[in-house]
Amino acid sequence: MDRDFFYSIMNGEGTLDYELYLNTKTLLSCQKDFMDFCNADELQFQIVHQVEEMWMKLIGYTLLDIDDYIQKEDTNRVITLFRRVHIALRLMVEQLALLETMSPKEYQEIRLRLGNGSGQESPGFRTLLRMHTPLWQSFKTCYLDKHELTIEKIYNSEYSHSDAYVVAEAFAEFDELFQRFRAAHMQLIMRTIGLGAKSLKGRSVDLLNEGMRVRFFPELWEIRSQMTDNWGGEYGVVRDPIGGH
Ligand code: HEM
Repeated sequence: MDRDFFYSIMNGEGTLDYELYLNTKTLLSCQKDFMDFCNADELQFQIVHQVEEMWMKLIGYTLLDIDDYIQKEDTNRVITLFRRVHIALRLMVEQLALLETMSPKEYQEIRLRLGNGSGQESPGFRTLLRMHTPLWQSFKTCYLDKHELTIEKIYNSEYSHSDAYVVAEAFAEFDELFQRFRAAHMQLIMRTIGLGAKSLKGRSVDLLNEGMRVRFFPELWEIRSQMTDNWGGEYGVVRDPIGGH
């Protein structure tokens, strides 16, 4: 195929309504020129990162709306919007797999072009890391404190599958999926550069392991352990066999 011809039409003219509305001219110029790529994997390397930034932008924007609806205790809206966040996070996890089609050697070539850049500088990721605390505070104020509820009550002693419980589970899913992104990203690193190597900013394994331990909403995970301890005081020590012998 005539590579130059297809290169020349791939970004479009940018003049049709579809192109104007979506700003495709600018969007498709956000990657390096075809001639400037160091190898055939660099385009997908840039695109996967850019797409992930777009999903994080959508997630951050949606979390702001979720916060507004939490203030109004509009549970239906909160749940629908959390579903959007969850789907976007699942896409973020899945899309990392594209980069597993890049060989370790080809990544080393790209890596030489990254300057001092590191995922730590991701604007989307840094924004999300700042959103969970105020969001959790809104939930506690509007769904718990205002109704004299606690996490323990909605999960255990006053459990009724209430709005507060359903919203709390949406928070838990958000937390879990964010961790899944971190875990998938760790696997990707292991596959591409190995975990033992020094990164552009020092020892990345330590930094990433630290992140893997972080939970956005620790109370939602602690309640499960507390319930297990309380319900089965002798769990792991003595339990009657089901058959009674
Ligand atoms: C082959 C692909 C990739 C490799 C080898 C890689 C490697 C790394 C490494 C070594 C770090 C540790 C920080 C450092 O030492 O600089 C890091 C951090 C990070 N990377 Fe990647 N990465 C890849 C793809 C991606 C993609 C596609 C994203 C999507 C946004 C991403 C987002 C991040 C984020 C957000 C951090 C900071 C994590 C934190 O602070 O907990 N990375 N990456």
